Amino acid sequence: MNFPIGVIGGTGGMGKWMVRFLENEGFRVETRGRNRGTDLAKMAAACPVIVVAVPMGDTVSVIGDVGPLMREDGLLMDLTSLKKAPVEAMLRSSPSEVIGCHPLFGPGVPSVRGENIVLCPARGDRWLPWVRDLFGKRGARIVETTPEHHDRMMAVVQGMTHLNTVLFGLYLRESGISREDLRAFSTPVFRAKRALAEKIASSPSLYSGILSMNPHMGDVLKRCGKVLRDLEGLLERHDGNALADVLSKLGNDSGN
Ligand SMILES: NC(=O)c1ccc[n+]([C@@H]2O[C@H](COP(=O)([O-])OP(=O)(O)OC[C@H]3O[C@@H](n4cnc5c(N)ncnc54)[C@H](OP(=O)(O)O)[C@@H]3O)[C@@H](O)[C@H]2O)c1
Repeated sequence: MNFPIGVIGGTGGMGKWMVRFLENEGFRVETRGRNRGTDLAKMAAACPVIVVAVPMGDTVSVIGDVGPLMREDGLLMDLTSLKKAPVEAMLRSSPSEVIGCHPLFGPGVPSVRGENIVLCPARGDRWLPWVRDLFGKRGARIVETTPEHHDRMMAVVQGMTHLNTVLFGLYLRESGISREDLRAFSTPVFRAKRALAEKIASSPSLYSGILSMNPHMGDVLKRCGKVLRDLEGLLERHDGNALADVLSKLGNDSGN
């Protein structure tokens, strides 16, 4: 199969990654950003497959613009880090087949081999084998699920992870300790954590979207509060044995 593919947001991080990936697979790719690139109507007329890779806060409105221009036998797919709202918007606004896609990596990965990619097939079955094959033949690990389950998992996998880093960074700011002192007293683990906080600071809107737009973050925060209160109790009692017992089970992620 050879046909042109449109990538809206193909001038930015993940969109650019998708453009490179598709071009390496031999496809001709039309791209557009906010104010540059192929006109939306021309893209929709030329490309049976359109991929939306714009910032989370813009995704639903961009889908609302492109959806009605799609053809029934085409495919509208997005790369958004959350899936429920974009997939609902694609179903609502377009007559085409719809697949939600979330590559669980950033644009810096050298290859998809061994990387996880979530697919949320939502309408039609003509394009699904093509998408599976597109990533699967390059060694990506594909998991298919519903948008709801994806978002619930991301509240833990991305939400909890980034919340932890944000907490670390905010704590350092609150502490008022100078950068010089932090550097002079730093350990390798501390420096690694600090680098993660700096990575978040360099893409604030991506991470603020991941944290603030996931409907399941309330559950994560509630559970974090309980975990903190439990730890507080152990630490205030200086109960080293009970704490060691808790720590020894950390590798057992599910608590089962
Ligand atoms: N970065 C990651 O690690 C990562 C990983 C997985 C999934 N994602 C998802 O990928 C999507 C893009 O994230 P990103 O980090 O790649 O963002 P980004 O680097 O900020 O790029 C955003 C792109 O969207 C374009 N854009 C913004 N508003 C637009 C509009 N109204 N119409 C058309 N194009 C528009 C921008 O074009 P111009 O700059 O040319 O205006 C740019 O090409 C998000 O949904 C994110 O959740 C990101």
